[in-house]
Amino acid sequence: MSEKIRISSYSFDKYLILRIFTLCFLRKFIMSEPDPHQFRNALGQFATGVTIVTTLDNDAKPVGVTASSFNSVSLDPPLVLWSLAKTAHSMPAYQNSGGFNVHVLASHQSDLSNQFARPSDDKFKDIDWVPCENGFPLLPEYAALFRCKTHFQYEGGDHIIFVGEVIEYQTHNFPVLVFHGGKYAEAKQKSAPATPARPGVDLNSGQFSDDFLLYLLSRAHFQTSYPTRKACREIGMSEAEYFCLSLLAMSGSLSEDDIVIRLEHTGHHPDAEIFARLLRKSWINRDGKNVHISESGRETFIKLLAHSKALEEQLLKHFTDEELAEASKFMKRLIDITGSDIPELW
Ligand SMILES: Cc1cc2nc3c(=O)[nH]c(=O)nc-3n(C[C@H](O)[C@H](O)[C@H](O)COP(=O)(O)O)c2cc1C
Repeated sequence: MSEKIRISSYSFDKYLILRIFTLCFLRKFIMSEPDPHQFRNALGQFATGVTIVTTLDNDAKPVGVTASSFNSVSLDPPLVLWSLAKTAHSMPAYQNSGGFNVHVLASHQSDLSNQFARPSDDKFKDIDWVPCENGFPLLPEYAALFRCKTHFQYEGGDHIIFVGEVIEYQTHNFPVLVFHGGKYAEAKQKSAPATPARPGVDLNSGQFSDDFLLYLLSRAHFQTSYPTRKACREIGMSEAEYFCLSLLAMSGSLSEDDIVIRLEHTGHHPDAEIFARLLRKSWINRDGKNVHISESGRETFIKLLAHSKALEEQLLKHFTDEELAEASKFMKRLIDITGSDIPELW
């Protein structure tokens, strides 16, 4: 039989009292007034994306803040939310503008995230933004964009929660920026369970699938070198001439025979006619037995190189740092393995 304890005129179950004390004790440690630092750390365990939310203030000046509190609310009607600290300088702008643009950041945009997370009079400095039809700033790049009409504003402790009705959205195929444990991170998909290997090449029918690695490599090469090859054609430069200039830009002066040997692996065999053309166009100069790139040859080559560089800059945005490091390691190994008999290029 359970013991009863008398307090004043009430009678309690001894174990009930014990249970209440235990609950109060646990509540103190688990639920009540969290230590701000520990609470922040616990919240930081929830990995989020990073957004920049923009709008206009009362003077029609663009404002923007970095916010990781963005989330989806409803599909029908399409609603999203985010919350802003009441202390934010830009608070009146969001409360009065009637709308905002949420830009979900791509993984190459952590500097931009920092720029909008620091209070400043001109967060949009050096940014090529354009106004959307309501005048709210649109940033030039993002992984996703949600243009919103402010639907509700709620009190949320020291924050105001803004719920927006999405009136337009867009996506770009960039890897997204992630925020976790107070640090920027990149999302890495868990690898799918291994699927049985498919044959890449059928030597009976001459067919190959897109698992054929060498097909992928050459297709990637042709697609990524296309802008430069097109630019060469437009200025009347053959690919063989381009390869000669590229080699000479890196190596200084070389004999014609040396050039032929070093370009063997490209499939190009520059003959006397190619060298004569390069000389006629003043892209190279003869120096005894050797040739070297001229000033105008280097200028022309640099302009062509800029096409590759510009394409690379755009491409890199589509990959995480980890993917790029892996790809670079893979390519270098492939070049090592297949290039043992190719002379050093420079
Ligand atoms: C990754 C990251 C996420 C952030 N998320 C939020 C957020 O969701 N809400 C918020 O009020 N502040 C957030 N901040 C802080 C604000 O961006 C920062 O305080 C900003 O300067 C406030 O705007 P203000 O310049 O108008 O004062 C975040 C900062 C970073 C770096």
